[in-house]
Amino acid sequence: MAFVIFVLQLVLYILLFPMYLLNFLGLWNWICKQWFPIFLSRFTVKYNQQMASKKRELFSNLQEFAGPSGKLSLLELGCGTGANFKFYPPDCRVTCIDPNPNFEKYLIKSIAENRHLQFERFVVSAGENMRQVADGSMDVVVCTLVLCSVKSPEQILREVRRVLRPGGAFYFMEHVAAEHSTWNYFWQQVLDPAWHLVFDGCSLTRESWKTLERAGFSKLRLQHVQAPLSWVLVRPHIYGFAVK
Ligand SMILES: C[S@@+](CC[C@H](N)C(=O)[O-])C[C@H]1O[C@@H](n2cnc3c(N)ncnc32)[C@H](O)[C@@H]1O
Repeated sequence: MAFVIFVLQLVLYILLFPMYLLNFLGLWNWICKQWFPIFLSRFTVKYNQQMASKKRELFSNLQEFAGPSGKLSLLELGCGTGANFKFYPPDCRVTCIDPNPNFEKYLIKSIAENRHLQFERFVVSAGENMRQVADGSMDVVVCTLVLCSVKSPEQILREVRRVLRPGGAFYFMEHVAAEHSTWNYFWQQVLDPAWHLVFDGCSLTRESWKTLERAGFSKLRLQHVQAPLSWVLVRPHIYGFAVK
């Protein structure tokens, strides 16, 4: 099976040679950072329609983590276009972080559409080093469809635990690797290198639940589901929350 996967990947390398060449010349990253926000702004509309009930369920108890003032301090890690804003409770204080500055114009639009929130700031940085966010300053950190793309999920979760106050919560919703015995996992493996290049570093085969289980949270509520999405490759999902 490994040989068949290798041959199919080789075919894809040949078909996508121009992209690999641009990558080799150091130009692809710039193109990707421009096109990915445009793609995501469209994908998000569809994703939110298909996942609306799961997102509503996931975020239904956010307010329980608010501090004594009743206002929730929330960090959206890998915020993208601000796809989750409409699911947050009124007066929630939202800080956003993302390494791609080209999301800013989409964020501004999402902020304008979600007047019930109190927007704090947009920090352009990778989540592996969030030095602009103080220790223990957040009630909640939210991360959706991000652990698949980051360089080090382990370091991200260390940073999440640092910025969360004691008793604060980390909310996640991620696409993950399918069960190894399935055709879906076979195709995820075949397409993974090309997918990674086209979709700005995203991997189809991450087993992010294992990283979450090892991250040292005091409580972890995690569900595996087949998400009701049109794209079969990203149907296997995990979602839930972890408490520091
Ligand atoms: C698939 S998008 C998801 C965006 C948004 N969270 C959503 O649910 O629509 C992945 C996001 O992760 C961001 N990202 C990639 N690497 C990252 C890193 N190391 N730290 C934080 N965010 C990262 C990307 O720029 C992009 O905005």
